[in-house]
Amino acid sequence: MQNTSQVVARNLNIFDGSSLLIVGMPDDDLLSQLDYSQAFTWDYSVYSMLSQSGFENLSWGAELKSDQLFKQVLMFMPKSKPELDLLFAMVSSKMEIGGELLLVGAKKEGINSVAKKLSTVGENPIKLDMARHCQLWSVIKSIESKPFNLDDWLKEYEYSAGEDTLTAVSIPGVFSHGRLDDATALLLENLGKIPSGRILDFGCGCGVLGAMISKRNPEAMVELVDINALALYCAEKTLARNNLKGKIYPSNGLRDVTGRFNGVYTNPPFHSGVKTNYSITETFIRTVPDHMAKNAPFRLVANSFLKYAELIDGALDRYAVVTENTKFRVYKAFR
Ligand SMILES: C[S@@+](CC[C@H](N)C(=O)[O-])C[C@H]1O[C@@H](n2cnc3c(N)ncnc32)[C@H](O)[C@@H]1O
Repeated sequence: MQNTSQVVARNLNIFDGSSLLIVGMPDDDLLSQLDYSQAFTWDYSVYSMLSQSGFENLSWGAELKSDQLFKQVLMFMPKSKPELDLLFAMVSSKMEIGGELLLVGAKKEGINSVAKKLSTVGENPIKLDMARHCQLWSVIKSIESKPFNLDDWLKEYEYSAGEDTLTAVSIPGVFSHGRLDDATALLLENLGKIPSGRILDFGCGCGVLGAMISKRNPEAMVELVDINALALYCAEKTLARNNLKGKIYPSNGLRDVTGRFNGVYTNPPFHSGVKTNYSITETFIRTVPDHMAKNAPFRLVANSFLKYAELIDGALDRYAVVTENTKFRVYKAFR
C-alpha cells in the first residue's frame, strides 16, 4: 500500500460510513477497507486497475458528476500543485456545510503548505496524523462554495509553427497549461510531411500536436490519447476551437490503442505525478512498432539527457536526430 494509503488505513475510526467521497486515490487496495459512496479520479490507469480489481462505484472523467452532497470527502493530494485549487473548488461544491474534508499527502508533494488552502473551505484546519513522510489534515466545511463550472478554469493561448497559428485550450495541471512547451515547439517546427490516414498523437496533453497535424494535413485522421481526463477534455476543446477533427480517447500507454497508424508523433511523459518515470516511454518505444504501418514515420521530442536514442534505434528503422538545441532533441525513425 502506498504511504498515503497507510496513513489513512491507520485512521479508519474517523470514517463514519455515511456518504463518503474519495478523490484521487492511488491504485492500491485501500478502498477495500473503506465504506465509500463514490471514488473519483482523473487518472485512467488508476481507474482501469481498480475496476479490474473489482472495486465498484468508481468514476473517471474531467468532472465529478454527482447530484448528491457528501458528508465526508477524503482527498489525496493531486499529482501537481496547479490542480489543487481546481480540485478544492470542484470537491467543496459537492460537500454539505458541516461536512468534513480530509486531505492526505506526502511532504514532498507539498502537503505542509496546503493547510492554508484548507481554510478556503472552513476555519481552523487541523493536522490529524503524520507518518511515513505524509500528513492527514481535516477541516469542517463552513464556507459556502460557488457553483463549480469546469469551463471557468480554461485558458486559451495562441501557438504557431511555420505558417500556421492555432489556439490551444488548457486547464491547470494539464500539459502544457498557459503556454506552449519548448520541447513541443521544437517538434512542431520539425514535423516533416504528415501522411494521410490514421495518425497517433501519444500523450496528447491539451492537444497542441494533434491539432497542428490535423491542420497541416486535413487527410490525416488524428487520434489523440492520454491518461488524464482533464487533458482529453482540453484536447477536445482545442480541436473544436480550431474547427479541426480528431478522435480523442483514454489510453494507458498503448494498451487501449488498436490497429496500425500511418504516423506517430509524441512529446512523451517522463513523470508519473511528481515522480520521474521513464518506463512509460520506454515501454511505448518498444511496443510502438506493433501499432505502425510499414514505412510509417515516427517523431519524438525529449530532453537531450534522456537515453531514448538506443531504444528508438533498436525498435525502428532509419533512426536519426532531426534537430537539437541545448535542451531538447527531435528523433525520427520509420517502421
Ligand atoms: C510531456 S506531456 C506532452 C503533452 C502534449 N503532447 C504537448 O506536447 O504539449 C506528456 C503527456 O503524457 C500523458 N501521459 C502520462 N502517462 C501516460 C500514460 N501512461 N499513457 C498515456 N499518456 C500518458 C500526460 O498526461 C501528459 O499529458
